[in-house]
Amino acid sequence: MGDGNPIISMHGIVKKFGGVVALNDVDLAAYPGEVLAIVGDNGAGKSTLIKILTGVYQPTEGRIELDQKPFEMSNHSDAIENGIDAVYQNLAIADHLTPAENLFLGAELTKSFAGIELLDNKTMKEQAIRVLKDRLGVQLKSMDVPTESLSGGQRQAVAIARAVRHDDLRVLVMDEPTAALGPQETARTLDLIKTLKTQGLAVIVISHSLDDVFEISDRIHVQRRGQCAGVVKTAETTNEEVLGMIVGTKTAA
Ligand SMILES: Nc1ncnc2c1ncn2[C@@H]1O[C@H](COP(=O)(O)OP(=O)(O)O)[C@@H](O)[C@H]1O
Ligand SMILES: [Mg+2]
Repeated sequence: MGDGNPIISMHGIVKKFGGVVALNDVDLAAYPGEVLAIVGDNGAGKSTLIKILTGVYQPTEGRIELDQKPFEMSNHSDAIENGIDAVYQNLAIADHLTPAENLFLGAELTKSFAGIELLDNKTMKEQAIRVLKDRLGVQLKSMDVPTESLSGGQRQAVAIARAVRHDDLRVLVMDEPTAALGPQETARTLDLIKTLKTQGLAVIVISHSLDDVFEISDRIHVQRRGQCAGVVKTAETTNEEVLGMIVGTKTAA
């Protein structure tokens, strides 16, 4: 945890939206086999930070390194091509499509039949079953249902499977993965995150729930008013200390 070299690191990141300074001189590093939590009040810059990390936004200043080499992204596809992906809060899932259709949305597998390109639904379904089972330990009762008929936790698994179906995925970012879930579904999603960590992924999780953060993370990055208020090892801190850093009454030791 935190040993060895980071997969990806951000250095002195500044992001301005017009006159608004959303991020001011922020550093962040993500290591393989580690869960890094990002916490902070609304408007602290959490989402902006991970949008820069996943190529959605470009920083106003600062630099990013991948495997300790300079790394620039023009868009989110650049991130995906380099093994970095995200699962967003609103679960970018199409409700009326099946789990397999969601996994391959925009990247459908095709086969040629009599010179015509056809969707290869069979292979997509087989691969979806395999990714859900082998990577996430999830088996759905039926794959031939609209994703909206699944439970919140299963839908979350489909959203995560969409990212992890790329074998070269190395960094997975999740923005509030448990925000819309009940207690049981939350527990399942936290288990999924632990599973991904044991597979060697760097997992970055934004969360409002300090209970969740203390259950799954190895380190906690506290954002406050656009700046990093400190990074602490989860095993060496307390709920109270982290809360103090979030509201600004405590600084990291
Ligand atoms: N696209 C945008 N345009 C203008 N201001 C933005 C934009 N995105 C975020 N901001 C501002 O940047 C700051 C940080 O926002 P955000 O990263 O969403 O915080 P968090 O995710 O921690 O709630 C806020 O003041 C927010 O209003
Ligand atoms: Mg946010």
